Amino acid sequence: MWAADASGPVQVDDLRCEYAVNPIGLDVPAPRLSWRLISGRRGERQTAYQIQAATTPDHLQSGRPLLWDTGRIISDRSVQVAYGGPRLKSRQKVYWRVRVWDKDGRPTPYSALAHWEMGLLDPADWKAGWIGYPEGWPGRPLYFRRDLRITKEVRQARAYVAGLGYYELRINGQRVGDHVLDPGWTDYSKRVLYVTYDVGGMLRQGNNAIAAVVGQGRYGMPKLLLQVEVQYADRTAETIYTRGGHGAMSWRVTSGPILASSVFDGETYDARLEKPGWDSPEGKLPPPSDRTEGWTTAVPVEPPGGRLIAQKLEPIRVVQTLSPVKLSEPKPGLAVYDTGQNLAGWAELRVSGPRGTRVTLRFAENLYPDGTVNQENLRKAAATDVYILKGEGLEIWEPKFTYHGFRYVQVEGLPQRPTLDHIQIKVVRSAVEAAGKLETSNDLINRIQKMVWWTEASNLHSVPTDCPQRDERQGWMNDLTVRLEEMILNFEVPRFLTKFLDDVRDTQQADGAIADTVPFRWGQRPADPVSASFLLLAWLPYEYYDDTRLIQEHFDAFKAWVDFLWSKTQNGIVTYGYYGDWSPPRAFAVGGLLGIGANSKDTPERLMSTGYLYYSARITAHMASALQRPKERARYEEIARRVAEAFQREYWNEKVGGYGANNQAANSFALYLGLVPKERVPRVVENLVKDVESNGFHLTTGNLCTKYLLEALSEHGRSDVAYRIATQTTYPSWGYMLDNGATTLWERWEHMTGGQMNSHNHPMMGSVSAWFYRHLAGIQPDPEAPGFRRFLLKPQPVEGLDWVLGEWRSPYGLIRSSWRRTEKGLAWEVVVPPNSAAEVWLPAARGKRVTESGRKLEQAEGVRRLKEHGDALVLEVSSGSYEFTIE
Ligand code: BGC
Repeated sequence: MWAADASGPVQVDDLRCEYAVNPIGLDVPAPRLSWRLISGRRGERQTAYQIQAATTPDHLQSGRPLLWDTGRIISDRSVQVAYGGPRLKSRQKVYWRVRVWDKDGRPTPYSALAHWEMGLLDPADWKAGWIGYPEGWPGRPLYFRRDLRITKEVRQARAYVAGLGYYELRINGQRVGDHVLDPGWTDYSKRVLYVTYDVGGMLRQGNNAIAAVVGQGRYGMPKLLLQVEVQYADRTAETIYTRGGHGAMSWRVTSGPILASSVFDGETYDARLEKPGWDSPEGKLPPPSDRTEGWTTAVPVEPPGGRLIAQKLEPIRVVQTLSPVKLSEPKPGLAVYDTGQNLAGWAELRVSGPRGTRVTLRFAENLYPDGTVNQENLRKAAATDVYILKGEGLEIWEPKFTYHGFRYVQVEGLPQRPTLDHIQIKVVRSAVEAAGKLETSNDLINRIQKMVWWTEASNLHSVPTDCPQRDERQGWMNDLTVRLEEMILNFEVPRFLTKFLDDVRDTQQADGAIADTVPFRWGQRPADPVSASFLLLAWLPYEYYDDTRLIQEHFDAFKAWVDFLWSKTQNGIVTYGYYGDWSPPRAFAVGGLLGIGANSKDTPERLMSTGYLYYSARITAHMASALQRPKERARYEEIARRVAEAFQREYWNEKVGGYGANNQAANSFALYLGLVPKERVPRVVENLVKDVESNGFHLTTGNLCTKYLLEALSEHGRSDVAYRIATQTTYPSWGYMLDNGATTLWERWEHMTGGQMNSHNHPMMGSVSAWFYRHLAGIQPDPEAPGFRRFLLKPQPVEGLDWVLGEWRSPYGLIRSSWRRTEKGLAWEVVVPPNSAAEVWLPAARGKRVTESGRKLEQAEGVRRLKEHGDALVLEVSSGSYEFTIE
């Protein structure tokens, strides 16, 4: 897809609307469009574009009537172009195409057609009401059904559905779509996500059964809202919708084989209670008066309260199926499967045996020395699934409304001798695409990268959770502050983050306070001031995707949060903080708020809080500039200035030349924030390096400052030291985790397995992966040219590495930075996508012989010398592929 004939003309491809390919059910009034230029020519860029949109493909082909035609717009913009045609209506479908003019002013042919479709924009579009069964079968999912007789040809049909906690929609015995654990988790009293499906192909002439299973999920008593809109070939239409009570339109409800279902505890399924045909027209629904098999009339129930919003992020899906790698039988009748990888998901059981046999699956991250599963660190989460056989040959079962974080599955009660075939592992997460790739000549780095990748992947569950396994699984804002950049480099998350920022907004109070966890279930409100993730949720998408809408939409909310923090200062110092640089190595920790020995002993919470107020005020000022709001910019710069002053006054120690306790956390944090006055920088950096050395090249930092430690060292020319920390194998380090069997990151630097806080799949220490991309491969955004319109390539070929390959899918296309040592120096392959440009820092190139594809730099096309900086040679490089050598 990215390759193109070097001499061929430009092509326009990968048309997207609100980051998605041909989305349906959108509720964005002016959707933003983007496309990519495919070209092998150096310096290729767009000089103009034209978009055309129409209501049918025919209108677009024939050019009339058009809904919107931009005409030729002289602009290099190929991302985030907002639709500017007439106001879009509910359900409206729009077809569009685009052509561009290349660098020489030649037009390309039009792209292939793309389309999007609007969802239900007006609350009045909803005829459906929420239904349920108020007396409950507590903990048990509800099974709903209604029949529909169709006598005409169906032209199109859409289902709009919101089932809380989680639903599975079924038509005529078939599952609709491939979402699981849907819809995404929100504060349902504020926002409920509805999902739009194209179900035209599933309905048929004759009898149809429309059915749904709804489990409690993260909500409580199951509730269903469903509207199926059918358009017939004869231009008539019909809408089937949920509504409680008796009559011809009534919905029926019953219980079923899922006896108990809980996100944390697991699912119990009794296959003997299956009602074959319950969801298909072949299975007859008993008449309303007949309560056979528990069928009864669904009743109207209290709506969850939140506004209905279209689900625009990638759904959670089964993204991968794995076979376990090992089976052991530590005790008779007890089989323990090892998946070889800590992950989030569940197991599919394949079993045959006598009716009534009870098979139990226990999920865990750890094993006891005797080989049985150790679930202690899951705390109150039972993480146990139970399947009771119906005894009819091979039975294949997987749960619907729970998920587990695990590496091991202990299966008890198998009626046969256990074999590897008895279970399959389903990997489950928000189905975002991978965005980056990072490989090096050092296998330890590759293993750390893989460990971070799996950890992040395990914790994308419509909310960025802290862990996938124990009785918690919360969207902790403190962790997110240092997770976001790593997440963006590894996964394509603009839609995921957009949704989550709305979730954060739902926690914000009139005084500006947001909450520690989102949706707010754990921790405190006001949140710990370290939750700069709130602003970074918009600022990083601005830097990485050129998304200004998030800044626009949330700017007042960001201001309110910063104002709130400012109101909590005394002489410029923030007076509260709970977690600070959380979970440092044990010797550097104390009891703290939760009394579990995870607060930093040396880094005061107030120091962290004050630094973060400075950081947050600075980001707000930058946002104000991006929005061209000079007054606000001045105001937040002034707050930042005053906080910076207070920080110096309170925490600078002239005698030792460092901040706070002159420890790694405080010094690297101050450096990262740019809080250290120029003349003090050398002393602080020296102190930082000394501290690292005196700890035997080990870190002493917690979740937050681990990021800043590596970043600050690299920013100040000491990537060699950062590299030694990153590749350390003794405690505390990532290598130590790996040597102790970790396949995902731990929550503590220590190896612990007891009943306390010690998740083994916790992304907060994963910022090291962002450091790999940013400093080993050197891929960095330039905030002056957001969205990688222009970016930096600034790798640091540290001692110990022979080669590094880094890639990232920018909005303009794939970026590559791939260097390797040669006999005489360095060879570096660089790919800059069409319509973008890079500032390329050739490392240690000053005074060396530098060539590009065998030519002197002066003769290389697309290359311009900018400056020399330290021992680097800095070039401006236009789009294309380049081969630099330095010798
Ligand atoms: C979460 C952490 C979070 C911490 C803050 C823990 O329970 O798992 O990720 O940083 O709480 O107190």
